[in-house]
Amino acid sequence: MNTIRSVSDMQQWACATREAGRRIAFVPTMGFLHEGHLALMREGKGRGDYLVVSIFVNPTQFGAGEDYQDYPRDLEGDTEKVSSVGGDIIFAPSAKEMYPSGYQTFVAVEKVTQNLCGASRPAHFQGVTTVVAKLFNIVKPQVAIFGEKDYQQLVTIRQMTRDLNFDIEIIGMPTIREEDGLAMSSRNKYLSSEERKQALCLFNALNQVEKLFQGGEKNPKKLIDRAAEIIRVQPAADIDYVKVCHPETIEDLERIDDKALMALAVKIGKTRLIDNRVLKN
Ligand code: PAJ
Repeated sequence: MNTIRSVSDMQQWACATREAGRRIAFVPTMGFLHEGHLALMREGKGRGDYLVVSIFVNPTQFGAGEDYQDYPRDLEGDTEKVSSVGGDIIFAPSAKEMYPSGYQTFVAVEKVTQNLCGASRPAHFQGVTTVVAKLFNIVKPQVAIFGEKDYQQLVTIRQMTRDLNFDIEIIGMPTIREEDGLAMSSRNKYLSSEERKQALCLFNALNQVEKLFQGGEKNPKKLIDRAAEIIRVQPAADIDYVKVCHPETIEDLERIDDKALMALAVKIGKTRLIDNRVLKN
């Protein structure tokens, strides 16, 4: 396995690989890899001749006062993990390599980024789509794999890929969870042991809402109230949003006809966690 740090080296490798008629599968990450990331990589291995994993903590998707500086980093540990699933290339550029001085171009997807995390974290999705568009142009994959854990991000990437005519197949993969149900996240590392227990309220809320929904409750407000009630019991929990929205447009729903996305963002102490569930009959 090789680690590439420069954009031009990565592009050269990608061009040569495509010229040889080989298929590149790509998993973009911010590193501090866990089983959720590895599941995407295993899927990528099966979908391409070569698997490229990017590890880049992207400054443009963090807001002022967010955890860009503190975001956990472990390139050595990550390299072992990528190697263990048969990855071929790690692309790990510096921030300067990706955003040299004088940088001034950004990609923004409009409607699907307005609600949920886009409302709480202005400019977050613009940072995500900008870096992913750049990575697509650098890694030149035929297929890229993303997690449903970041559901709105996946919808946004699909929209960008369509709108900008990237000739790339986008694959979404289900959320990988800890044994007790907490969605795996690099940010779980921030939780104290007491907070870790309380963090389970996100998964519990989704399960209770699913039960209500399958029992016939189709009123989003009732489902939201139930989820919020379960989360608020935990003293460390502070709700950012609890919403029921359309799984493709990400607009709030007044009533559920066919299917809906229940999306949660909750601060547990200082750590902001997200989770979601698609509700369907
Ligand atoms: P990061 O949070 O490192 O996540 C990288 C990929 O792993 C994303 O597609 C995310 O949805 C997926 N993922 C994270 N936790 C998961 C879990 N528990 N189960 C399944 N998949 C999971 O998302 C980003 O980085 C960045 O925004 C990025 C797309 C790399 C752009 O900077």
